[in-house]
Amino acid sequence: MRVAVFGAGYVGLVTGACFADLGHEVVVRDVDERKIDALRRGEVPIHEPGLDEVIARAGDRLRFTTEVEEAIADAEVVYIAVGTPSTYSGDADLSAVWTVVDELPRIERRIVLAMKSTVPVGTGRVIRDRLDARGLRNVGYVSNPEFTAEGTAVRDFMQPDRIVVGAFDPLDADAIAELHARIDAPFLRCDVASAEMIKLAANAALVTRISFINEIANVCEATGADVQVVAEGIGLDRRIGPAFLRAGIGFGGSCFPKDSLALKQLAANSGYHFQLLNAVIEVNELQKRRVVGKLERMLGSLRGATIALLGLAFKPGTDDMREAPSLVLAGRLLAEGAHVRAWDPVADGSRYLEGVEIAPTALAALEGADAAVVVTEWPEIAELDWGEVAKRMARPVVVDGRNLLDPAAMRAAGFEYEGIGRAAE
Ligand code: UGA
Repeated sequence: MRVAVFGAGYVGLVTGACFADLGHEVVVRDVDERKIDALRRGEVPIHEPGLDEVIARAGDRLRFTTEVEEAIADAEVVYIAVGTPSTYSGDADLSAVWTVVDELPRIERRIVLAMKSTVPVGTGRVIRDRLDARGLRNVGYVSNPEFTAEGTAVRDFMQPDRIVVGAFDPLDADAIAELHARIDAPFLRCDVASAEMIKLAANAALVTRISFINEIANVCEATGADVQVVAEGIGLDRRIGPAFLRAGIGFGGSCFPKDSLALKQLAANSGYHFQLLNAVIEVNELQKRRVVGKLERMLGSLRGATIALLGLAFKPGTDDMREAPSLVLAGRLLAEGAHVRAWDPVADGSRYLEGVEIAPTALAALEGADAAVVVTEWPEIAELDWGEVAKRMARPVVVDGRNLLDPAAMRAAGFEYEGIGRAAE
């Protein structure tokens, strides 16, 4: 089939590249000329494992443009995959979505407009009305939310747990089904509003699990239990399951913080106070800051201390630092008067972290430091020669914000070690 994708960000690029890989003819359109030029030269502007290969393999089936007309020319399905960031009020900013909808030229043949961007429930209805008001009844509309995670996006797209399509007209859902014909996964057809809610509710369920296990971790710390063992023990219950029970310094990224805020705000705008989701968000904010308290207990005042932050991306396998816990942590440490040095194998911290010294290697960040904090669970950090690190640091103190390292081995290497929710000894 012939597909146009509006937006060459993480979601748009992965969507476009994977559809091309499935044999479709795809044109990806973005307003950013530099990005489109780079993509035409074969340069992929984001770090996403496997994406370079998929794009290279697609060859002529995947083209890039800044022109609306060129993208739409023969398209049967037009995907919207533009950003919907949080506004100051916590609502989703839909201005990029409206631009795409309003830029749609008058087309005589039938096409389907498919929403990949995460939008508030009810957006599809408003878009349908706006299309109808312009007389574009031949433009179908579906909500086809994405459930891919950064770092595993290509695999998640090709082998999803499910494909969800909310449509006003069953024929439009049929077109999306045909597009995904080569993907073996449950295909859920529903109404547009429910598809929009499935996306927000899925992310809300996941962040609730994370804040839940983080609070269990905090109680473990106060009572002498070990959250790693507790997570394993509860995860063996089939009704609970083992996924998303990793305690740490909180969730970040371009989706969870934004989407949980958007759902909270959507509920509030509809007159409902979403108590549980409010608590989940608040627990996450507090969790990012708990590391500072741990460091103070181990070092005393942080004024003048050198703290090494290991990992900056919001999770391993990506260069994305949007809403990363490292940003809040670095800000808090600087406010306490600490000198902050940071290292990440991929993410470019200098773009985000004013006042922080960016080190070229992990060892350079650790050299002479008073304490190290594991912020992102990169395998490179686990593979460091920690015996050697202990000799290089001014004080061998480690706060492991992701429970990446083995406490017994760290203590044997001479470290004062604290994880999240792990038994003291
Ligand atoms: C998330 C969802 O996992 C995807 O299903 C969804 O499609 C996507 O958001 C989206 O809405 O676009 P992503 O943000 O890429 O994907 O990353 P995750 O792997 O889910 O991690 C998010 C954050 O939660 C990270 O900061 C991670 O460290 C944290 N996390 C995750 C935990 O603290 N504990 C866990 O057990 C799992």
